[in-house]
Formats: sequence, structure tokens, C-alpha cells
Amino acid sequence: MNTWRDQSVLSTQGWTPELLQPLFDLARTYKQAIARKEDVRISHQVSCLTLFYEPSTRTRLSFESAAHRLGIRVLSVANAGHDSSAFKGETLEDTGRILSAYTDLLIMRHPEVGSVKRLSEHSKIPVINAGDGAGEHPTQALLDLFSIQEVFGNLRGLHVGLCGDLKYGRTVHSLLRLLLQFGCRVTAIAPRELAFPDFETQQSLQEVIPSLDVLYMTRVQKERFPDLSLYEAVKPNCSLLYSDLKRAKPTLKILHPLPRVDELDPAIDQDSRAYYFQQAANGVPVRMAILSKVLL
Ligand code: NCD
Repeated sequence: MNTWRDQSVLSTQGWTPELLQPLFDLARTYKQAIARKEDVRISHQVSCLTLFYEPSTRTRLSFESAAHRLGIRVLSVANAGHDSSAFKGETLEDTGRILSAYTDLLIMRHPEVGSVKRLSEHSKIPVINAGDGAGEHPTQALLDLFSIQEVFGNLRGLHVGLCGDLKYGRTVHSLLRLLLQFGCRVTAIAPRELAFPDFETQQSLQEVIPSLDVLYMTRVQKERFPDLSLYEAVKPNCSLLYSDLKRAKPTLKILHPLPRVDELDPAIDQDSRAYYFQQAANGVPVRMAILSKVLL
């Protein structure tokens, strides 16, 4: 039975390995198909609409690329705060009601926590949360977990460090839950001001790095700070330098949802431990799996 069918994807809450494994298996099939340039179109009859009120490169375009590969038609509003009737004052509720008649699936990003869920409550079609402010980013967590599985196979017992902006970073909010569900040992590393709201967080990456199997770096979310002087003060404490890797395992994998600013030294790109560009590429097959599970 396909439990994803016609369901909104709003949060990683309640997701289990049993629910996710079939999706990852399908993503793996799509990844191989893309590599072999196979035709994997499944439908011309359905469409999806990307509605983004915040900037995006990877999330919107990998969803659209995934849809195109599957033969799903795409409607796209990339700058919805200005280019939709939100600019004239239309409510999210009304936008949800209207767009339900125009497409089969909505993929939405918005700066307010809870906004995507709110719109989904007024929509007749499933809605995918592509990031709601500092809330969640469940499909990013799926591609993050898929990427770790690609490298290590089984996740049980892996030591994963989540580092950077754990307060405002929505990707880590969605990911932490899944890592724990899959039996990883998680260490959260952040300055006190950017700690997880309800998970013990420690401050020294140097202490933790030798025992890590995966280091998941994040950008300090400048746009979420009420006070930019606080951003300037904490930012320098959230970076990974190439020299920090001297004490890390040779098998470590470094992930980052991207975009990076200064928290990830570009010198690391040449190191075999850098995995963030492959991780971003995994966004396409993982989102193909999500689209086909929800739509068909
Ligand atoms: C992230 C996001 O938008 O939350 N990017 C992404 O989707 N790959 C991370 C970020 O902006 O820092």
C-alpha cells in the first residue's frame, strides 16, 4: 500500500524507517535511471505548482527538474511575495483554495513557521512543505538521510554531528528526528545562542570531530536574526576549516544543505570527505520518488 498517495508532506514528525525505506529504494532506482539516461516518464496527465515566497536554488529547481524527468507538468511562481496576489494582500487561505483548482500538487516555501500547514488546511490538493521559516524542511531531511545511506548503507550506530545554526536552521529541525529514528547517535554542536530548543547542545566541534562519521554543517540563518549584531557576533564560531579535518576520520563525510557562506572552507571541496555536492545532486532522484509516491 502506498501511504504517501494524496498526502501532504509537512513535517518529519511520526515518520518511521518502515515508511521511508520504500521511498529511498525508489529514489535509488531513479538515481540509476538518471545516470543511464533512461526514460522514466510516468504521466503527462498531472501537474505540480511551485510557490516560493523565499529565495531558493536547489529546492525549487530540483523539484522542477524531478517533475520534468517524470513527465509531470510544472507551473512555477518563484517570487510569490511579489508576483502573486499576496502582494495585493490576498491571504494564504484564499491562495490555497484557488490553486487547488489549477494543479494537482503544491510545493511551497514561505518565511513564516506553520504557514505551509495553514495553507494546506484550505487546499483540496496535497501540499509539500519546501521550508516554512525556521520551522521544517522535510524533503531536505529525506535527501540528507538518503545521502548518508548511499555512503554508509545502514545508519544504525553512526555518529552524526549537527553543527551551526540549530536554532533557526529548518533542515536540522527536520533531520534530527529522522537520525534518531534510524538509530544514529547525534551530537549537536552550536554556540549557546544557536542551540537546539530541546536537544542537548555542546559548543566545541574540536572535541567531537575525531569520533564523527558524518558532519552536517549549516549556514547561520542571517535572515532570521532580529538583531544583526548578534549574527555578526556568533557567525565566526560556526565554521569548519580545512585544518580542522586533520583530527577527523578519513572516512568522515561532510554534508551541508547549501548554500554555504563562510562556514565551510572551499579548500575542503577537494577532499574525499566532502559530500555536499553529491548530496545536492541526490535532491533530484529523492524528489522524483516523493512526487511519484504522492501523485500516482
Ligand atoms: C536550506 C534552506 O532553505 O533551509 N537550503 C536548502 O533548501 N537546500 C538551507 C539554508 O538556506 O541555509
